[in-house]
Amino acid sequence: MRSTGRKGNMDIQYIHGYDHSENIRLQDQASTLVDLLHSDTSYPAGSHVLEVGCGVGAQTITLAGNSPGAHITSIDISEISVAAAKEKIKEAGFTNVNFQQGDIFQLRFAPESFDHIFVCFVLEHLSQPVEAFCCLNRLIKVGGTITVIEGDHGSTYFYPDSEAAYKAIQCQVVLQRRAGCNANIGRELYPILNQVGFCSIHVSPRMVYVDSSKPSLVEGFTKNTFTAMIKGVRESSIEAGLIDAKTFDDGINGLYRTTETDGVFCYTFFKAVANKK
Ligand SMILES: C[S@@+](CC[C@H](N)C(=O)[O-])C[C@H]1O[C@@H](n2cnc3c(N)ncnc32)[C@H](O)[C@@H]1O
Repeated sequence: MRSTGRKGNMDIQYIHGYDHSENIRLQDQASTLVDLLHSDTSYPAGSHVLEVGCGVGAQTITLAGNSPGAHITSIDISEISVAAAKEKIKEAGFTNVNFQQGDIFQLRFAPESFDHIFVCFVLEHLSQPVEAFCCLNRLIKVGGTITVIEGDHGSTYFYPDSEAAYKAIQCQVVLQRRAGCNANIGRELYPILNQVGFCSIHVSPRMVYVDSSKPSLVEGFTKNTFTAMIKGVRESSIEAGLIDAKTFDDGINGLYRTTETDGVFCYTFFKAVANKK
């Protein structure tokens, strides 16, 4: 859940950043959402799987554990993230993952090198998502699959309502849009995969519903994943003149208010699985 614009390697600007707090946020997000997002993904022994945009390995660890016999190759454009992911997988004792630094648009694998591709929270950061999927399509064997998971900030609603919270969330949507990216991309997975030429496309919305009877989601999702992400764009939103400091802070307080005893928070991820024709 964040943004990069792409106009060649050197121009990539990753709005969410590669800082320590963002890495912790990605870990919180991954561990909170493991069942919701991964329960129906496991690859057969012997199959070759490419994970694209692995970051610091927050999803890689689940992929590796759920598909112990698969040969997983995980790539990311950030060398630092790849190094962190490699370390994490080594510490966890998995031996079925190879890591490489690489750009989606310039991967050097031979055509049809992989049975399956897995992409999570990457598409929203790309200014050319259709081109990215054309590049990935070439790497999948005929009949193989692509699995894509993305969020959609437009799916956010909560109780008690807070106009300021919606304004703060919208700041991130606008900042991503200005960088050529799309925080509301979840709803576009079907049309994008269809446009690229994938077949048997199946998209399933995965709603995270949080109330105070689910304290681990209150902490892990509402506070440490979603609100932390919105808080991360405070300075850039104010600097860009999208919002004033008071309204932004009221918005963050509004999000925290949904974590109290009577509060409710909802967000929907979209998971698509499709076949290469
Ligand atoms: C929000 S992170 C998601 C990381 C991981 N998939 C997860 O769910 O925790 C997005 C990742 O995409 C990577 N990325 C962005 N543009 C890329 C590109 N053109 N090629 C490869 N990776 C890219 C970033 O470096 C970042 O690690």
